[in-house]
Amino acid sequence: MVAAVAIPLDIEDAIDRLKRERNAVVLAHYYQESEIQDVADFIGDSLQLAQAAAKTTADVICFAGVHFMAETAKILNPTRTVVLPDLEAGCSLASGCPADRFAAWIAKHRAVDPGAVVISYINCTAEVKALSDYIVTSSNAEAIVRSVPADKTVLFAPDKNLGRYLEKKIGRKMVHWQGSCVVHETFSLRKLVALKERHPKAIVIAHPECEEPILAMAQYIGSTTALLKYAVASPEREFIVATESGILHQMQKQAPDKTFIAAPPEANCACNECPFMRKNTLEKVYLSLRDLTPRIDMPADLIARARIPIDRMLALS
Ligand code: 13P
Ligand code: SF4
Repeated sequence: MVAAVAIPLDIEDAIDRLKRERNAVVLAHYYQESEIQDVADFIGDSLQLAQAAAKTTADVICFAGVHFMAETAKILNPTRTVVLPDLEAGCSLASGCPADRFAAWIAKHRAVDPGAVVISYINCTAEVKALSDYIVTSSNAEAIVRSVPADKTVLFAPDKNLGRYLEKKIGRKMVHWQGSCVVHETFSLRKLVALKERHPKAIVIAHPECEEPILAMAQYIGSTTALLKYAVASPEREFIVATESGILHQMQKQAPDKTFIAAPPEANCACNECPFMRKNTLEKVYLSLRDLTPRIDMPADLIARARIPIDRMLALS
């Protein structure tokens, strides 16, 4: 029989206490449920969270996000303890790009084009990072792809939607790994068009992980932080938001008098909530700080190899 785990009733206070006792910091992605965002020391998009992880002096990092994000924090902080509240918090982009197949894909292209540059979206495993020349996030991908000399072929992985968006925006052909995000490919064009007809004044804003027809309807495209800043600063009052619905919590908090509508998924489901991000709960955040587990650990040589393209990204951001 599994022993019941005692969770204090004043869980937010207990988390605060543990943070002080352990000199711990809670970093949370915007896609975490609102009660986790509310206990976080820092909330951000993938780039901001990597930057925060690179700067922290805390002994313990509780990463309220998904596995590849916690891995990135560990790569940047090999001597600190990094915990992920639920180890099952994965990502369809990361799992759709296994390192052995990725290595074979690079080798196939480099056999005919040895100078090809490998650019990987941060949503990938540490092993894939270690095989890459540059890591990018949705905030800096455009600038980093632009920094690669025009005569070089770019092999872009794993998100085909972000890759195609960049290709179109920059006007540069790239070779794409065929990965996608299960959340961002769920939005329904048909339902979005109908929603826009019912809210003609609403501005459609979208994350570049969305499919092309959804992006074609968006008046603004950007990373989660860019979408948040745009919506808060805009003089417009109503927005249809095509990304994971967790971001609506900060949008509503920072612009309480505006209306934010989550873009509709095709099925009658909550598929615009990332099933991996939502594995984390406030209880699991508490337990991870109390027990300092589940921990993220990796061999030192993998950390060293994966760090090179992450450092290149941070230097260019
Ligand atoms: P950003 O944090 O770069 O906006 O990416 C969104 C995402 O899907 C993270 O998994
Ligand atoms: Fe991965 Fe998509 Fe979830 Fe982000 S929202 S963690 S890209 S599955």
